[in-house]
Amino acid sequence: MKRVCQLLSIHYPIIQGGMGNISSPILASAVSEAGGLGTIGTGTLSLEEVESLLLDMKQRTAKPFALNIPISVTTDLKGMCELAVKHAVPIVSLSAGNPAPYVPFLKECGIKVICVTASVKQAKKAEEAGADLIVGEGYEAAGINSPLEITTMTLIPQLVASVQIPVVAAGGIGDARGFAAALALGAEGVQMGTRLIATEESPYHERYLTKLLEANDTETVIVGRSVGKVRRVLRTEYADQLIKAELSGVKPEDFAAMTDEEKHRIGAVEGRLGDGFINGGQISGIVKSVPSVQKLLEDMVGGAVLIYKKQLKEFEHISLKS
Ligand SMILES: Cc1cc2nc3c(=O)[nH]c(=O)nc-3n(C[C@H](O)[C@H](O)[C@H](O)COP(=O)(O)O)c2cc1C
Repeated sequence: MKRVCQLLSIHYPIIQGGMGNISSPILASAVSEAGGLGTIGTGTLSLEEVESLLLDMKQRTAKPFALNIPISVTTDLKGMCELAVKHAVPIVSLSAGNPAPYVPFLKECGIKVICVTASVKQAKKAEEAGADLIVGEGYEAAGINSPLEITTMTLIPQLVASVQIPVVAAGGIGDARGFAAALALGAEGVQMGTRLIATEESPYHERYLTKLLEANDTETVIVGRSVGKVRRVLRTEYADQLIKAELSGVKPEDFAAMTDEEKHRIGAVEGRLGDGFINGGQISGIVKSVPSVQKLLEDMVGGAVLIYKKQLKEFEHISLKS
């Protein structure tokens, strides 16, 4: 954990993942102010739109934060990297594509680089390219998922065994138990998306929040598998429409239009759950409260300490046979 905190100059090794076009400086700055690493996502936004988010973020916090650039959906990757340099963004996280061509430029400009990966092969390539930190994202996670469908539980120990740089676990983490479990697997921190939707500082629509708070263990669905674009969303009227479209053999380009960032905004920000989708991870079923970001982070870290103390006591009753 110390390595991650030192590398990113943060207090708790807890990262907010990118949140596409609906990234909010209010939520991201709350995470950074609370001692974690807040993230501004670029999604499919224009350079001008991202610049205005960065200016807003810098007004709200002087603490470190990251800019998430999802490679496969960003049209002007060079421009986005240059924007990060122009605004002295301390950390960039690269996801959804091959980061190798962009890491050297960012590193030369003094930016720390996080690469979001979903397999050992991807993580090794990112390390070779010069990444400072790997986020290993399992199939439990909200939003765009890897078609490899490897779970966090199995992915993290394999990543830890394969790279030298710190590994942070993402996908299915929402409280102290998840944090402690990730550390037990060898991760040196965690990244979250779903849990942060239900916080006081979250700017999303009340219907999104209600859906999340009412979710049970079976309330998320994978859409897009038939067209190779795997995404985990909360079960809604719109998610049913996506499933129906897939069953009737929708063309990949039509499905892409049905799941573009505008449909994300309509669902998450406007709360029109029949017209747009809302991302949600499998951890949704344990999200039952709306704390401030600060309380959430402190409960996670403090709770993990208690879990480890309790487990240590439990082990006092067990002796090895040999
Ligand atoms: C609303 C929302 C939007 C997301 N958008 C992005 C994104 O633009 N880029 C990205 O790398 N990950 C994105 N993710 C994934 C998160 O960054 C994070 O890695 C993931 O949510 C972790 O799993 P969890 O949902 O189980 O906490 C998104 C997640 C959510 C909930």
